[in-house]
This record gives sequence, C-alpha cells and structure tokens, in this order.
Amino acid sequence: MPRIEIRSFTIDVTAELLEHFQRHRKESGVNGIHFMPFAPDDPNGPMGISTDKALLPLGNLGWQRWFYARDADSGNIVGHVDLKHDGLSAGLHRCELGIGIETRYRGAGLGRQLMETALSFARDTGSLAWVDLRVFANNTRALALYRQLGFTEIGVLKDRFRIGDDSIDDIVMTLRIHREGQTEAV
Ligand SMILES: CC(C)(COP(=O)(O)OP(=O)(O)OC[C@H]1O[C@@H](n2cnc3c(N)ncnc32)[C@H](O)[C@@H]1OP(=O)(O)O)[C@@H](O)C(=O)NCCC(=O)NCCS
Repeated sequence: MPRIEIRSFTIDVTAELLEHFQRHRKESGVNGIHFMPFAPDDPNGPMGISTDKALLPLGNLGWQRWFYARDADSGNIVGHVDLKHDGLSAGLHRCELGIGIETRYRGAGLGRQLMETALSFARDTGSLAWVDLRVFANNTRALALYRQLGFTEIGVLKDRFRIGDDSIDDIVMTLRIHREGQTEAV
C-alpha cells in the first residue's frame, strides 16, 4: 500500500496539482466510463483551481478550498477534493464539492478520507449549511460513497450530457451540515 498524506492546498503545490489534473483528465472516458463531461479528444476540460479564489477568506464571493492527497513515496499528487462557492451573495450558505483520484489509488479508502477531510472543514466553518454535488448516474462507486456519507439525491437532470453515443444522466445530491449558515458576504 502506498503511503498517502492529505494536505490543504498551498500555493507552492500549484504545478504538481495541475500535473495531477492532467493525468486525471485523461482517465475520464477510458473504457467508456466517463466521470467528466468531456470526450477524451475534447480540447476543453474542467475549470480546475483558481489559485486566487483558493486563497480568498471564507465568506468572500467565489471562495474555494482544495485538499490534495500525495503519494509520499513517489511525491506525486494523486487525488484532490475541492469546495467551491458559486459567487452569489445569496448563496454563501452553500458550496459544491468535487473529487477525483487517479485510477491506481481508487478503491482503497482514499475517496472516503478526502471526503471526510472536506466535510470536516465545511462543518468547522460554521458558515455553511449545505454541501451540494453532482454525479453521473452510472458512477456507482461515487454514488455509494456519497450515500454512505449522508448525501441524498434531490434530482436528476436526464440526458444532461451526450458524449459520443452515450447519454448521461446527472444526479444532484446534497448534505445538510448545519441548520443555520451564513447570510451575508464579509
Ligand atoms: C469516486 C471516487 C472519488 C471514490 O474514491 P475511492 O477511493 O475509489 O473510494 P473508496 O475506496 O474510499 O470507497 C468508498 C466507498 O465506495 C464504495 N465502493 C468502492 N469501490 C466500489 C466499486 N467498485 N463499486 C461500487 N462501490 C464501490 C464502497 O462502498 C466504499 O465504501 P467502504 O469503505 O465501506 O467499502 C474515486 O473512485 C474517483 O476519483 N473516481 C474517478 C473520478 C470520479 O468519479 N469523481 C467523482 C465525480 S462525481
């Protein structure tokens, strides 16, 4: 088993994180299993990290928080989880979670660890009431993990994406972490 360490994003790991995103991006669609809304040959890709937003104080519009998992033996970043605010003043009590782990490191509990790191952070803020996420309906592993952590399905965008011959339903899930949460931007 590789030795894995989980850390909060700091600016000095930006290049390594981008390398991890590139490896991870290439894995979506392999063997017809998509977890990102991009065909393998699509020149576009996910938004990824905004280093400015990742360093914004909580409560500022558009804040992001990123945590990464590093293989302590190879030194490579091999997984990440992120929380993003949508940029709206009226939405400061919610954020959206994203997660990704490189193939070799999946199925060994790292997803659960990264999720728990992000959710623990979200609970400790005291300013968040809800954590939302979206997941492709055929992503059984991710769905199992989210359900185990208490996320509930609140809707499905049928036929949300079409990649090649595949039509993909996108499930919206949410987790209530506090009754209150923030009501104003700082
Ligand atoms: C989805 C993902 C984050 C899960 O992380 P992981 O490290 O592979 O998952 P874990 O090993 O922590 O397993 C978590 C749970 O998922 C379930 N699970 C694991 N492997 C599974 C499989 N092959 N099929 C179905 N469920 C599975 C188990 O219930 C497990 O819980 P357990 O600890 O009680 O056994 C990871 O597989 C991944 O990054 N996949 C590609 C990118 C992706 O799908 N991102 C999410 C987009 S919404």
